[in-house]
Amino acid sequence: MQFTAKSASTKTLSTPCLLIPIYSKGKQAEITQQIDNEHLQIITRLIKQGDMTGKVSETLLVHLTADSKIKRLLLVGMGEAGKTTPTEFIKSASASAKALKKVSAKTICSSLLDVEIKDKDIEWKVRQTVLASREAFYQYTDTLTKSAPEALNLNSYYFLVPANQKNIINTASLTATSIANGIETAKRLANLPGNFCTPTYLADTAKKMAKNHESLNVTILNEAKMEKLGMGSFLSVSRGSRQPAKLITIEHQGAAKDQKPIVLVGKGLTFDAGGISIKPSSGMDEMKYDMCGGASVFGVLQMCAELNLPINVTGVVPASENLPDGDANKPGDVVTSMAGLTIEILNTDAEGRLILCDALTYSEKFNPDVVIDIATLTGACVVALGKHATGLLGNNEELANELLNAGSKANDKAWQLPLWDEYQEQLKSNFADIANIGGPAGGTITAACFLSRFTEDYQWAHLDIAGTAWKSGAEKGATGRPVHLLSEFILNRC
Ligand code: BES
Ligand code: MN
Ligand code: ZN
Repeated sequence: MQFTAKSASTKTLSTPCLLIPIYSKGKQAEITQQIDNEHLQIITRLIKQGDMTGKVSETLLVHLTADSKIKRLLLVGMGEAGKTTPTEFIKSASASAKALKKVSAKTICSSLLDVEIKDKDIEWKVRQTVLASREAFYQYTDTLTKSAPEALNLNSYYFLVPANQKNIINTASLTATSIANGIETAKRLANLPGNFCTPTYLADTAKKMAKNHESLNVTILNEAKMEKLGMGSFLSVSRGSRQPAKLITIEHQGAAKDQKPIVLVGKGLTFDAGGISIKPSSGMDEMKYDMCGGASVFGVLQMCAELNLPINVTGVVPASENLPDGDANKPGDVVTSMAGLTIEILNTDAEGRLILCDALTYSEKFNPDVVIDIATLTGACVVALGKHATGLLGNNEELANELLNAGSKANDKAWQLPLWDEYQEQLKSNFADIANIGGPAGGTITAACFLSRFTEDYQWAHLDIAGTAWKSGAEKGATGRPVHLLSEFILNRC
């Protein structure tokens, strides 16, 4: 799907379908008035008849007469004129894209960028429109045969804009398209079942990505190499699985070699049954999503490569399964991490931190500017923040604020939780330097406390995406979060 700018007057425009805004109150947009006048007051009549009220997310498809160069109109409700909020704009963009799926047109033209939104520029509107549309058009197909959905007809999406804005719109469209591609890569990998998306599959996917993008360089460490590096914590999780663990590194070099990279560490647990501390079986299928942090790292690195961003970004993805087995971790086992700290494994289901701690120590070798880890780490985060906000913790307030702002601008929101010393005491162990769980209180915070013991030598932030990385129920599927947040963060640093 291509998003491009187009300039034309309503009289010369020829299109199978034109999207126009309809306000519920106040004066209609200029384009809407023009179309109304050129087509026998059709919009005025539809509003009078009550067929279209202009409520946010409301859409109405209207067919024009045979002699019209504009074949159809898609009326899109935008709420009260001059009062559309950012979230309302996104809702309407999303509703209009869903409506377009039912229109059999190869190209469409949208004038929705005309809608004024307080504090948001046109690039923001382009970004959100592209992402909302690509989200609506996304289809999972990998393991479907008979029930596979039909391919979308639509392949060109034009933004109707004044000629002097075409360049800005086209540049914003390309950026947004690469972010959407990154989100889609993350979603595809995440939605793949655990028997398809194994640690080896992730490693092979990374190698393919490097083949397709010149700026990317991929290194895969196998278990023997990790053993040599002393990654006893990571390997203890993998020991309970027949699939060998992989430590995947994807480097995007867009700036001078000596520029310190942003390092992104993503949890790549391709299936989490809990191990010997086994999870209840209801809903356990969703633990194929326990690699969403890793998938988001793949998506962000792909975005960096596609846009050739002038910055160095390194992705590190520890990939493993967590299963019960005769050789699996047992509650009470003590393992030694790459950093040398011994860990008492009181619950084998708190495995994310066990694989991340070694990946975080390994990350020091890249001499990072900052390290951000992304992980479906705790059920407690879903209890605390629900499905709308990613949990954010870290050891550097500036970095935390930068991420919070990026999330709010992207509408891929994060919310900070405290990482005070008081919580560290919950990780005391009588038999090791540190325990892998901190009891039922403040589970997201004590998980981050655990990670903080391995990140003392650099600026670090942790994103707990347990609530935001996928949706359950009828709409079960990966969201691709927080690829947009991280993309916004990286673009700001370029
Ligand atoms: N992958 C899970 C966290 C999770 C649970 C994410 C539910 C999304 C939904 C993680 O490995 C885990 O099992 N964490 C435990 C930690 C506990 C044993 C301290 C949890 O949250 O129950
Ligand atoms: Mn677990
Ligand atoms: Zn897990």
